[in-house]
Amino acid sequence: MTYPFTDRTAEDQRLVAQGQVFDPLTRRLFARAGLASGMRVLDLGSGAGNVARLAAEFVGPRGLVVGVERDPAAVELARRRTDAPNIEFRVGDVQTLDGIDHGFDAVIGRLVLMYLPDPVAALRQAASKLHPGGLICVHEADLAYLPATPPTPLWAEAHGYFLAALEKAGIERRLGLNLFTMFRYAGLPAPGLQVELFAAGGPDAPAWAWANVISAAVPLMERHGIATRADLDPPTLADRLLAETLAADGCVLGPPMYGAWARV
Ligand SMILES: C[S@@+](CC[C@H](N)C(=O)[O-])C[C@H]1O[C@@H](n2cnc3c(N)ncnc32)[C@H](O)[C@@H]1O
Repeated sequence: MTYPFTDRTAEDQRLVAQGQVFDPLTRRLFARAGLASGMRVLDLGSGAGNVARLAAEFVGPRGLVVGVERDPAAVELARRRTDAPNIEFRVGDVQTLDGIDHGFDAVIGRLVLMYLPDPVAALRQAASKLHPGGLICVHEADLAYLPATPPTPLWAEAHGYFLAALEKAGIERRLGLNLFTMFRYAGLPAPGLQVELFAAGGPDAPAWAWANVISAAVPLMERHGIATRADLDPPTLADRLLAETLAADGCVLGPPMYGAWARV
């Protein structure tokens, strides 16, 4: 399976911005799961580096975070975005983790298992990099939940195109719902679970976050004959989505983010 968002420069900008909505949720997950000072942490699919940077705050100067990411341009960007001495980024495939040491205190990952053809095997592989008692903690979405409430026409249309495009690409759009089962299939202990989503109304509601990811999927939609750039008009999409929600006195909902963690 190839990563569906093909314009990598735009994708990395999107991932940086996306941190504004997801990082507070991931911070609460890490605190609950027990990420702590001094840990050596492996971050799967580190993208532009948001999650690794967050983890570096938890582990502090005595700890270390190693981000593994398949895309070299994303790794370059993540390196440029930090000069913290306790973060490293490496080009690599999380399905094999070739060249990555054993004996980590924690393995973490956000929104990466959903893009893998065999996420259970990836969880098993990741857990093999931990020392006994090490922590595995992942954060994945249910992208098929309502993106805004009350439901309105443009939201329904744009979100529908997005889900159809991901389905054509073979991506598990509701992977967050399966995390408990996946941990068990991977031979891991029953994980603790946390589900949280962002929600906000009014002029600052982050319709832009959904517009960004829906726009990023336009090439995929066009490839599969689902919708065209003209149908969605990405430059105005965020404003039109927000206007619809404001007119309905509604609010924007983030995808429910499922966190799961266990000690191996
Ligand atoms: C949605 S982004 C999430 C990035 C980051 N975890 C975050 O939450 O900001 C998913 C990232 O996983 C990377 N990725 C996908 N498949 C991968 C693989 N097999 N090995 C390493 N990285 C992969 C993609 O290139 C992309 O940067």
